[in-house]
Amino acid sequence: MTDDEGNGQAVVQLSGVRKEYGESVALDGVSLEIHAGEAVAVMGPSGSGKSTLLSMVAGLDRPTSGSVVVHGEDLGTLNEKGLALYRRRRIGMIFQFFNLLDDLSALDNVALAAQLTGTSASHARKRALELFEELGIASRQNTYPAQLSGGERQRVAVARALMNRPAVLLADEPTGALDTRAGEQVMDLLLDLNQIGQTLLLVTHDQQLATRCASRLIEVVDGQVARERSLERTA
Ligand SMILES: Nc1ncnc2c1ncn2[C@@H]1O[C@H](COP(=O)(O)OP(=O)(O)OP(=O)(O)O)[C@@H](O)[C@H]1O
Ligand SMILES: [Mg+2]
Repeated sequence: MTDDEGNGQAVVQLSGVRKEYGESVALDGVSLEIHAGEAVAVMGPSGSGKSTLLSMVAGLDRPTSGSVVVHGEDLGTLNEKGLALYRRRRIGMIFQFFNLLDDLSALDNVALAAQLTGTSASHARKRALELFEELGIASRQNTYPAQLSGGERQRVAVARALMNRPAVLLADEPTGALDTRAGEQVMDLLLDLNQIGQTLLLVTHDQQLATRCASRLIEVVDGQVARERSLERTA
């Protein structure tokens, strides 16, 4: 891994991003760039602003000031509908607690992500099944989330996040609810995805996850980037 990997093209660009929630300042002037093909880990104390940073990139919320540009699109110029489309088309996101829909089978949870962008049901299911095969969960396609293990649920969530070929995959504590072995499998999956070119922005408390998956580490303290360094991957 070299410093100029990704041909210098910024997929994510934050400039002077500030986010206030009432009296509290969650982000206090964050500027950073993530390049195509990078895997960036964000670490920092609880309440330091890590999830807020992801929600800015995901277009789930808007900064109080500053700009967020992803895949050439300035999110500040998008109206609510544009932002919803942006989230569906450009962003994949996985969470600590998977956020799957209990009433849908694993495959339908994943296919739904593409149907929401206007893909036909049959195409969506076909693409979902391809991802299930790639991620080693094809045998679980008709299973409902409650019957899946934590690791399987997270792999379904990864499949869902990848459905629309996102410019960046965002992960907020993706191994936080998993036991060691399942957590390692998810780490390896994220690493594999990055090695085939998926740009990754990952929030974690887990130093091992960061060093295993990420090529760069950003430390956030009190809503600011306190430190940044390249990592030698251990995997
Ligand atoms: N929707 C919200 N409304 C009000 N305050 C919020 C909201 N989201 C975050 N905050 C506040 O912003 C600050 C940063 O929160 P954030 O969730 O980004 O931290 P974090 O680094 O992800 O923490 P953790 O490691 O515990 O997940 C905290 O003080 C939090 O209370
Ligand atoms: Mg958080």
